[in-house]
Amino acid sequence: MNEHSAIVIFGASGDLTRRKLVPALFSLYLKGRLPTGTHIAGFSKDPLTDEEFRARLRDGVEEFGGGPLDTAAWEVFAANLSYIQGDFTKLADCQRVQAELMDREGGISNLLYYLATPPAFFATIVETLGAAGMAAEDKGWRRIVIEKPFGSDLASAQALNRAIHGAFDEHQVYRIDHYLGKETAQNILFFRFANTIFEPVWNRNYVHQVQITMAESVGVGHRGAYYDQAGVLRDMFQNHMLQLLSLVAIEPPASFDADAVRNEKVKLLSAIRRVDLHNTVPAQYEGYCEEPKVAPDSQTATYAALRLLVDNWRWQDVPFYLRSGKALAQKVTEILIEFKCPPHVMFDLPEDYHLTSNVLALCIQPDEGIHLRFESKVPDTAEETRSVDMEFHYRSSFEEERLPDAYERLLLDTLQGDAALFTRSDEIEMAWRLIDPVVEGWESPDAPPLVTYPVGSWGPVQADELLAREDHLWIRGCSIAGHD
Ligand code: BG6
Repeated sequence: MNEHSAIVIFGASGDLTRRKLVPALFSLYLKGRLPTGTHIAGFSKDPLTDEEFRARLRDGVEEFGGGPLDTAAWEVFAANLSYIQGDFTKLADCQRVQAELMDREGGISNLLYYLATPPAFFATIVETLGAAGMAAEDKGWRRIVIEKPFGSDLASAQALNRAIHGAFDEHQVYRIDHYLGKETAQNILFFRFANTIFEPVWNRNYVHQVQITMAESVGVGHRGAYYDQAGVLRDMFQNHMLQLLSLVAIEPPASFDADAVRNEKVKLLSAIRRVDLHNTVPAQYEGYCEEPKVAPDSQTATYAALRLLVDNWRWQDVPFYLRSGKALAQKVTEILIEFKCPPHVMFDLPEDYHLTSNVLALCIQPDEGIHLRFESKVPDTAEETRSVDMEFHYRSSFEEERLPDAYERLLLDTLQGDAALFTRSDEIEMAWRLIDPVVEGWESPDAPPLVTYPVGSWGPVQADELLAREDHLWIRGCSIAGHD
């Protein structure tokens, strides 16, 4: 049996294919990582010829590929791109896709189905693939990649999982969270578990608080219709935010095997205490209601700050502050671990002087790296101290012009059958179990008031007050040192 594989992109005429998927696949091809003979077939309703499809993707690679196009390489790569017009909710059309690919010269035995369609089609497509016998692995492997959003609450996520499991076994399913494909997110586990010096202090005895910031400078743009239904909790917290939190807080898995890692993540998520509404801040940027396709009286939060607690031995009573929002001052994703102050200060410091605590900043983007802030003696003084920064930057340490896009890693892993960076069904449901009560709480009479914040700010003052209750401040550890 030959081992050639084909990737079938459902909904291939959409934006994701030209912006992300094909630029990532082409980059893998240029690096010699795309398995030889891998075919890429677009499958969609739009009437397109192979040539038109290729031209559209070439434009996408030129625009989003991050450098000048290697045209000779593109021509060779493009020979493996084809387009099949059809309705992916129809059994006969899906069977035609399979037949066309199996009949290709050189032969194909493995099929990766990539669902880049609107989420409303996910369940129907998996059911159709199941009915068409296209999940059966007797002629080669069959895998399915499901894009986000995966459901809009626990019930819909469970229903989708049921539909998927009606056709596919869990080992065939790859639920994407592109944050897990980011180099810096993957590096969290390496930082913690490929070193010995951090893990001994990575617990409630030394950690004072943890903060995760996912700030975006853009507003909702042309995605108003989707976003106004979703809001920040579904869009960023249920998935990306809880994934980053899991990586920071899990117990060490025994191996980097998909199930070992995901078992720990599920354990961690199930240890997070039900969020107290009193510890949440919903906010909306000024002018949001005038955005295209947003309801003029929308109550959707475009910003949220939450205080979470993890009920286990490692993290008991350590607050985890999470915040994310659109239209903020800067695009930055960072994780801050603030350590406790020394238990006793032996230096003769002025009475009102406080030592600044050590802060470890995991800079996920855009200036990828890791910073450690610690106290140093100011030269030529007797006992004065000042905070200084020890910095690691990917840019300088690895001399990489740019880090690979998250989709490169994720697509390669799906082809290689490694699901460690994908979300398992129980994990996704556990995340919804945490977020649903907050979404519902914000729609209830007990909801904290939805406040507004100016575009280009760091969010509402209520988010500062949330931390101030425990004498904490939002800390900026990466691109701009200091506090907000
Ligand atoms: C997506 C959200 O999942 O993540 C978007 O739907 C958000 O609203 C995006 O802008 C952020 O991703 P990144 O990689 O740009 O930080």
